[in-house]
Amino acid sequence: MFKTSQLKVRKQILTWVSLLIMAPSVFIASKEISQTLNEPLLFASEESVGPHGEAIFNEVAWQQQGRFDIWRMKQSHNGLHAKPQAWDQLAIIVDRENKTVSYHQLVADSTTALLTAPPDSLHPWPQKDYRVSCYSCHANGPRHLRPNWNSSELSLGWQSKLKVNWLNQKMQRYGRLKIIEHSPFTQSIERQRPLALTDPFASQPLLVKICQQCHSESGDRPRGPLQRQHLYTIQFMLKNKYMPPKGHSLSAQEKSQLENFMAGF
Ligand code: HEC
Ligand code: HEC
Repeated sequence: MFKTSQLKVRKQILTWVSLLIMAPSVFIASKEISQTLNEPLLFASEESVGPHGEAIFNEVAWQQQGRFDIWRMKQSHNGLHAKPQAWDQLAIIVDRENKTVSYHQLVADSTTALLTAPPDSLHPWPQKDYRVSCYSCHANGPRHLRPNWNSSELSLGWQSKLKVNWLNQKMQRYGRLKIIEHSPFTQSIERQRPLALTDPFASQPLLVKICQQCHSESGDRPRGPLQRQHLYTIQFMLKNKYMPPKGHSLSAQEKSQLENFMAGF
């Protein structure tokens, strides 16, 4: 009897001692994690590559301003050491309350760092014409980050994996977003290049049933219809088996429907 109660007390002391040791390290670790989540993440993209397979580098950061989520990206087509002005500066702004999204090509200058002072309506970011039509890859606002984890030029650790997961989950929670032209954080401009291609061929919808389960206006988890102009991204998703998501599979008929849709663009 005496022995077992002594053992119990010892066990309790051990538990308390280990809790006392662990608590500060858990606190420090969680602080570190939340800090790294707010820092920009630099990576070679798996999907975006140059015409000869050269790496395209993206630096992505997320900021919250009230009901707005501001996603910024710096992109280099000229390697990691390109001059600051040579990096494209892009922004996607999501209004979480009104479920809207807008796309912006920002003016890059020699001082533009990715995470500058947060923009506000008094100091909106200057912007310029789109370099490409954003909608042709961004069918529904921000895109999941997919780093090339095997890049020989830029290796990423476990913190980056954690961050990518966390940011991607944030994007996925938006659901269907309505695209608008302007945001309170950017100067208004007239653009020559359209946000989306509008000719009938490019805007032909993808009518494959399994894809429409999610890529449609309504349904369980709608995120907007896909069109032929999304072909490049559709091909990437199919080839790398990201779509259809795990747990869904394509019938032979749907496979040939997809092949027909993709032929000839
Ligand atoms: C050819 C396809 C393509 C086009 C066109 C494109 N993007 Fe992206 N963009 C991507 C992909 C893919 C990602 C995700 C990062 C990654 O994994 O490479 C991305 C990421 C981003 C991000 C970081 C937040 C997020 O969505 O993950 C911003 C901001 C962004 N793009 C803005 C723009 C803007 C603004 C335009 C139009 C001027 C544009 N993009 C045009 C493919 C494209
Ligand atoms: C169960 C729901 C679901 C089904 C079914 C589905 N998708 Fe997706 N799709 C998603 C989600 C969620 C994303 C955004 C996250 C991501 O990129 O993984 C996405 C992203 C995409 C994108 C990138 C553009 C965007 O909207 O962000 C393409 C292209 C795409 N899917 C193609 C397809 C194709 C082609 C099929 C049919 C073979 C398909 N998907 C089936 C849920 C689905």
